[in-house]
Formats: sequence, C-alpha cells, structure tokens
Amino acid sequence: MIKVQDLTKRYARTVAVDQISFEVAKGQIVGFLGPNGAGKTTTMRMLTCFLPPSAGTATVAGFDVLEQPLEVKKRIGYLPETPPIYPEMETVEYLRFVGKLKGLSGAALEKRVDYVCERCAIVDVRTKLLGKLSKGYRQRVGLAQAIIHNPDVLILDEPTAGLDPKQINETRDLIKDLAGEHTIILSTHILPEVEQTCEQVIIINKGKLVATNSVRNLQAQARGAELVVVEVAGRTGPLDAAIVQHKLQQVGGVSQVVCKQQSDSHAVFEIESEKGRFVRGDLARAVVQAGWDLNELRPTAMTLEEIFLQLTGSEAPSEEKAAPQEVLQ
Ligand SMILES: Nc1ncnc2c1ncn2[C@@H]1O[C@H](COP(=O)(O)OP(=O)(O)O)[C@@H](O)[C@H]1O
Ligand SMILES: [Mg+2]
Repeated sequence: MIKVQDLTKRYARTVAVDQISFEVAKGQIVGFLGPNGAGKTTTMRMLTCFLPPSAGTATVAGFDVLEQPLEVKKRIGYLPETPPIYPEMETVEYLRFVGKLKGLSGAALEKRVDYVCERCAIVDVRTKLLGKLSKGYRQRVGLAQAIIHNPDVLILDEPTAGLDPKQINETRDLIKDLAGEHTIILSTHILPEVEQTCEQVIIINKGKLVATNSVRNLQAQARGAELVVVEVAGRTGPLDAAIVQHKLQQVGGVSQVVCKQQSDSHAVFEIESEKGRFVRGDLARAVVQAGWDLNELRPTAMTLEEIFLQLTGSEAPSEEKAAPQEVLQ
C-alpha cells in the first residue's frame, strides 16, 4: 500500500531524511519510531504531499506523491503533529469544511460527518467551538477529519502527544479500532504504545533507517544479549539483597544486575548478559553454591525501549517540541 524508496529530504544545512526505504502492506498498523529530530514528521509530510522529496520516491496505492498528489491525497487521511486550529469554528462546521476540500458534498457529506462523529465519540461536541474543546476532544476531532473521506491510509503524527493517560487509552483504542479498515502509520515516542498497538515498527535515527521489522522479530533479535529474571530466597534466615547482587555481578558474562524487588526473605533481579553469552547455568550455580534458594530463573524479552536504546544509542525523548502549523488541503 505504501512504498518508499531512497526517500531523501535536504534542508539548507541538514539532511532531515536520508535515503530511507520501507514498505507497508495493506491493512497493517505500523509504528514509526525515532528520537526527536529523527525525521519522522518530515517523512510523513512527504508521504502526504505537503513537502516534495529532494530525492527518491514514495508511492501510495501505486500513485507517486510527486507526480500524482491528487490521487494520493484522496487515499490518505493525515493527522499532523500540530493540527491547524480554527477556534471560531464549530466541530461539524470544521468537518464539513474538510470534507468539502476532500471532494464530498450534499447528503454524502452529511452522512460521513455523522458517521465520523459517532466513530470518534465526538457527538456531544458537535456544535461546540473548536477553541473550547479539551485536548482529548480536539485530538479526536483531528482523527475524525482524517477519516472523513474514508481513506485507505491513515498517517498519524504523534496522535497521543500531550494527552493525559485516560485520553491516551481512549485514543489508542480508537486507533486500534480504525486499524481494521485502514492501513495506518503512526509516529510516537511512547514505546509501549507501539508494543500494544502495532504489528510492525520502522525505527529511524538522524534521518537514517535503523530497523524495520515486526515487534516480535525485533525482540528476538535483541535477545542475542540475554535478559534473565532471577528470584533468590534465604534458606535459613533473612537475605541481604546487596550481597546477592554483588555475587551475581561476579558471574562471568554478566553485564548488569538490577534489583527489581526485595523483602527480608527474598529478592528479584533482572540480569543482562553480554552479547552472545548465555549465563543462566552459571547464575543458578552461583546462587545455590552460596547457600541460597533459587525460587525462579527465567529468560525474558527485552522491551522495545531497551531495543530502541541498543539500536539508536539514544533515550526515547518525552518532550514535545513546537512545529510549524500545517494547513489541511
Ligand atoms: N523546515 C525546516 N527547515 C530546516 N530544517 C528542518 C525543517 N523541518 C525540520 N527540520 C530538521 O529536520 C530534522 C528532522 O525533523 P523532524 O522531521 O521534525 O523530526 P521528528 O519528527 O522525528 O522529530 C531535524 O533536524 C529538524 O531540525
Ligand atoms: Mg515530529
């Protein structure tokens, strides 16, 4: 459904997007991940025909973003990072306005407006001014305008940024719901969101593609370095977690030991091994030989956040940054 080949965007001094290539199949929901400034918004703006690529190509449903922008726009719904704000417009007025720009009119337009209001749970703010809406409602109106023309593809730039946890859950559920009908690319810096919502991830860093894979494969790949959870208990009396931690740290091939939980009698550690070292046997022996009980020892998957750190060498950012307003067309 989406095909990107060597896509590049240069600004005067920066290469914002540097020869990235990826494909998204029909019906997939893909997470677009990367630290601030990685080039996510720039890529999305090229896919939605707001910004011409400097080099490379991108097609949506077989139509080229540069050569057939009208065909592309018909098939894409876009929620920009900073949606345009028309504070003096009522919700339905705004949806009609966007719908008309997308070529809808008359009864068909009214039908779609009703449908998206229902779908995005904004019926109760139909006649409210956009300027008076809470951030959560405004975001849902943003999603409603993105799907007004029933596009094949949805491109959502940080759809949950700036929302409170309850609103995040509601928006996430709505997006998952929409995934049945549309192919979706969403960018986010909230990594668990990708784990919960997406099947595939595309990770970019400094304009370059670092990984494109299924969430499950990425986790398997990263497991080359083992992550093991170990629960240790004192056999005869109280247990000093610090002593246990020190002991585990000394096992060959162990790179990091983090105490996750402790009480008088037991402690739980998360242990990371060096890449290519498998330390479970040695960990078990060390615990038993020291006279403690080994209550549990199991390998665990790395979280996407840990994988992300490994691939990009940078923390996932949590700060918002201002972006220029975008005009919908
Ligand atoms: N209009 C612009 N002019 C010059 N540089 C820009 C412009 N827009 C973005 N950039 C630069 O391009 C890079 C990628 O930005 P962006 O696509 O917004 O990243 P992200 O959305 O991943 O945070 C950044 O270094 C940013 O400073
Ligand atoms: Mg951005």
